[in-house]
Amino acid sequence: MLTVPHVTNYLTEHLGDDAYGTLPGYRARGGYEAARKAITQMEPQQVIETVKDSGLQGRGGAGFLAGLKWSFMPAETDKPKYLVCNADESEPGSFKDRILMERAPHKILEGILIAAWATGAEKTFIYVRGEYAAPADILERAIAEAYDAGLLGANVLGSRFRHNVVLHRGAGAYICGEETGLLESLEGKKGQPRKKPPFPAQYGAFGMPTTVNNVETFCHVPHIVERGADWFRGIGTDKSPGTTIFGVSGHVVRPGLYELPLGTSLADIVFEHAGGPPEGRSVKGVIPGGMSMPILPAAQLDVPMANEFLRERKTMLGTGGIIVMDDTTCMVRVACVITYFFRDESCGQCTQCREGTGWLNKLAMRIERGAGAAEDLDVLLDVCGKMEGQTICAFADAAAWPVQGLLRHFRADFQAHIAHAKCPFPESFEL
Ligand SMILES: Cc1cc2nc3c(=O)[nH]c(=O)nc-3n(C[C@H](O)[C@H](O)[C@H](O)COP(=O)(O)O)c2cc1C
Ligand code: SF4
Repeated sequence: MLTVPHVTNYLTEHLGDDAYGTLPGYRARGGYEAARKAITQMEPQQVIETVKDSGLQGRGGAGFLAGLKWSFMPAETDKPKYLVCNADESEPGSFKDRILMERAPHKILEGILIAAWATGAEKTFIYVRGEYAAPADILERAIAEAYDAGLLGANVLGSRFRHNVVLHRGAGAYICGEETGLLESLEGKKGQPRKKPPFPAQYGAFGMPTTVNNVETFCHVPHIVERGADWFRGIGTDKSPGTTIFGVSGHVVRPGLYELPLGTSLADIVFEHAGGPPEGRSVKGVIPGGMSMPILPAAQLDVPMANEFLRERKTMLGTGGIIVMDDTTCMVRVACVITYFFRDESCGQCTQCREGTGWLNKLAMRIERGAGAAEDLDVLLDVCGKMEGQTICAFADAAAWPVQGLLRHFRADFQAHIAHAKCPFPESFEL
């Protein structure tokens, strides 16, 4: 009989242990045994099939199946193949990758090694956002430890497999988290996303076949190789297996990171785990997956946190960065903050995005100042409609979705500003 272990915090269970961040501490907890198993006992294709069977979805925002993505790497090629570990984590409300970099750097490296074996990649670039100076230092130390111990370099774990890891520090631009903007930046150019196709598996870093995965995605891999695809599928929902690390911020009494199975109810995360809003306040709205995902109103928090359920409510899991807003929140102010961010971060290549993000911000600011007109709400939605699905990358969609969500659920806030020609809320934060 198959016994499914009930441990559901496999990613974070040892993160409180300082030694876990070091090579001896990580190895004392069984670290690098999954990489040994993959490299010495499994064919690359077997590893890909195992990850495919596990149903692991990428944790960087889009939820693309990791095993399927690996299978796109050309098996027969005379070009060098690369991996990229996306450690840019620039989505506001998301801070899960940072804790993995700080507390479990060898788990990331082990996931990378297994993915490299599976895809035949000879080198991995870890692209770390510029602001993550301390996590980058920690990762660099772990990389040096791994080289010294023969876990990286010419003969990984005494085998004939070679793999090198290079850490690259970004300079703090949101768009460098988008995988092709990242590749451009890695190559020393402006971080402007590329037109696709060709996709990175055909033409990636320095024109070579490349697979890009998120930090957390790599961290699930050793556990899947160690315990099997069935074990992984025993956690989470049918379509969205495994756990993820939800980051909860905003108006809750216990903000922080919570590793929970996908499919956990948003209400449970907000109220049970994060303690809900401070006493005397109630929840007004919750962004479920980082700032670019549409908001849900308090009445819709009974939703399982998995894409198949969130999509029914016109939102998505994104990076699992949950931002809670209580009843003191002015949703027009929220629109001002969000649109300002996207206006500032657009790379400017596409007219719809460059101009559209500016328009959204101008309109939101005008309504907040009390100078808005009733038609402005239609104009906001019209601009959003012209940005969605029209551009080189999904940034423009990510800029339009939150505005659409705010108008879908909190139109009354916008209308009140227009009707009273001023913001009816106390100024909870400066714009
Ligand atoms: C505007 C934009 C910003 C993104 N930022 C990040 C990021 O900071 N970190 C990340 O892992 N993925 C980010 N992504 C998603 C990546 O393009 C890519 O899908 C991801 O790194 C693939 O990894 P995964 O399949 O393991 O999720 C972003 C996408 C867009 C459109
Ligand atoms: S959608 Fe925006 S961020 Fe993406 S390429 Fe176009 S202008 Fe740049």
